[in-house]
Amino acid sequence: MNETGPLEQNNRAREVLGIEGICKSYAQGLFGRKKIVVLKDVRLSIEPCTVTGLFGPSGAGKTTLGDIALGLRRPDRGRISWLGRDVQGLSGEEKKALRPRFQKLFQDPALSFAPFLSLKQSLDDAICFLSSGSRSSAQLQKRMDTLMREMKLERELLERTPDSLSGGEIQRFALIRCLLADPVFLVADEPTSRLDPLVQAQVARLIQKTAVQKNLAVLFISHDLALLQALCTRIMSLEEGRVRLLQPKG
Ligand SMILES: Nc1ncnc2c1ncn2[C@@H]1O[C@H](COP(=O)(O)OP(=O)(O)OP(=O)(O)O)[C@@H](O)[C@H]1O
Ligand SMILES: [Mg+2]
Repeated sequence: MNETGPLEQNNRAREVLGIEGICKSYAQGLFGRKKIVVLKDVRLSIEPCTVTGLFGPSGAGKTTLGDIALGLRRPDRGRISWLGRDVQGLSGEEKKALRPRFQKLFQDPALSFAPFLSLKQSLDDAICFLSSGSRSSAQLQKRMDTLMREMKLERELLERTPDSLSGGEIQRFALIRCLLADPVFLVADEPTSRLDPLVQAQVARLIQKTAVQKNLAVLFISHDLALLQALCTRIMSLEEGRVRLLQPKG
């Protein structure tokens, strides 16, 4: 049976991301003989303009779940929907159009950009990739300038390679590159864990502010419960393959 009632249809229409019955295991060990089960029948629904925290111990499967949500890894079973549309049912063209609107911000700032290119070259490449009939590269360039001003990044930084920027500066450029795609959903996979505590808080607040201003839904993955409590609309915990809602603080 695959029928949905009016209430469920209404909820799905508001959903940016829907995950249902997701299972994932990996083959490990000699000749892949050992199987570890990472996700067991996971269900998650994410609405626009919210920051959902994903908390859990190392190895719990947080990155795996974030990547599955973005279509970067395949689940063994289960369904994923983007903006209420079943991802498996999308045509190649539809998937190509929606794909850039589901973005990821990585943990390691140094790995976010090619080490031998200036930031300008990397961002120009992204603009070239994203420009289309409806959005010219001049419009995207203008948007990048605005975002740089909003994030207090000097133009001079664009001429440099990533190794000569601070972690906080690179994470802000990485966030700008995500935002150029006009995303509806962002997985921020421990985006502040390699930064010092002061910059950590700044970057985390910037992501939260961006979610509100740009009508973006964020899945913020972290081991830092206090940070998630300060930042998130709700916090989910992933442990032993299952996701459950953590009670908000206080
Ligand atoms: N491609 C893979 N092949 C085999 N095992 C994998 C693969 N990717 C992840 N794993 C295993 O799956 C488990 C979950 O990994 P995952 O990276 O999703 O955890 P995590 O919660 O993000 O951990 P951390 O907090 O350390 O980043 C780990 O035991 C990991 O070793
Ligand atoms: Mg991880």
